Amino acid sequence: MADVREKSPRLTVVGIGADGWSGLSAKACEAVLHAHVVLGAPRQLAYLPSDVRTRAWPSPLLPALDEVLAEYEGHQVCVLASGDPLLSGIATTLRDRGYEIDVLPALSSETLARARLGWSFEETEVVTVVGRAVDRVARALAPNRKILVLGGSVTDLRALLTERGYGKSTLTTLENLAAENERIADGWAHEPGPLTVFALVCDGPRLPLIGLPDSAYEHDGQLTKRDLRVTALSRLAPSPGELLWDVGAGAGSIGIEWSRVHPRNRAVAIERDPSRAERVTRNANTLGVPELRVVTGAVPEVLAGLPRPDAVFIGGGLTVPGALEACLATGARVVAHGVTLEAEQVLAAAYARHGGELHRISVEQAKPLGGFTGWTPSRTVTQWSRE
Ligand SMILES: C[S@@+](CC[C@H](N)C(=O)[O-])C[C@H]1O[C@@H](n2cnc3c(N)ncnc32)[C@H](O)[C@@H]1O
Repeated sequence: MADVREKSPRLTVVGIGADGWSGLSAKACEAVLHAHVVLGAPRQLAYLPSDVRTRAWPSPLLPALDEVLAEYEGHQVCVLASGDPLLSGIATTLRDRGYEIDVLPALSSETLARARLGWSFEETEVVTVVGRAVDRVARALAPNRKILVLGGSVTDLRALLTERGYGKSTLTTLENLAAENERIADGWAHEPGPLTVFALVCDGPRLPLIGLPDSAYEHDGQLTKRDLRVTALSRLAPSPGELLWDVGAGAGSIGIEWSRVHPRNRAVAIERDPSRAERVTRNANTLGVPELRVVTGAVPEVLAGLPRPDAVFIGGGLTVPGALEACLATGARVVAHGVTLEAEQVLAAAYARHGGELHRISVEQAKPLGGFTGWTPSRTVTQWSRE
């Protein structure tokens, strides 16, 4: 098949490691030497021969990015990135902004760190907290798990591990990888410089990704309980990268577990009560999904400006006129729970009109009864779902 690109891309993104110019491939050197200008961070530009025409990115970079590149319209431009430009790097940003790019990667800090530790790709979880909250790491914590953390500070990481009962984990700092001053040290004792990858061998309590015990959540009783939560999630059927609206989020458990299933999953929790909305944020941070977006407001009005979901869970607000209709109009998969007669009527009408599945779910748990053990029922829930 012929190459659809008729001419070479205007932007070549060259990955450069801490070993600088000497570590670049012949092709990467050629791209740098033939560029009209090379853009990069001052630290990276300092690696280049002095006769190369360079320009340092302004700081902050993102607001100025398009303007700077527009100045070189029609010229061959080279952009420097550290390691693999598509690993938490500028190549991803450029691609997402619609630039046509050619990427010449160097060894990533992740690859170098695994090489030093003897960890295979398959057994290593990589969590990037570059420009994000360190709480993201909490989602990945599991006994014996090997994790590499990109970005963040050793102080934040130590605090997170200690708070989550993972203070006995091995924490290693891998600093200035591939440079002459490379250093690998105990992260509990050593304060590393800025070019550092963190490695964890986890030692702490296990927490499932979904079906968390109710006690894992801070709540005021407004919580979709574990067994109901899992049946709802099975019908919401998250797939990597999908977006959920958790309408009437309560403690936030459905959106949180949706997000925990895969790091690219996204969720918006919609909650009318401001103190509950704050609680959702706290639960999301504690349970390792700080990117969960919380919107405080009432349905259906608040739904209007939100990005289109792939699935919607309605745990509250079902009897508000127009709420269910607004959710259905998105075309998303919908799962709705009701416990009152009024909500049940809304769900029965939806079933009659749209089909789908209607369930009544009762859960009874064995609990002490006098000197014996008896079944203790929780409130029966009516669940309607439409795929
Ligand atoms: C924005 S990410 C970019 C990763 C980069 N694209 C790569 O492939 O290595 C930056 C993370 O990598 C770390 N890092 C980059 N180069 C490094 C090196 N030579 N040694 C240790 N850590 C490095 C940074 O400290 C940070 O945690």
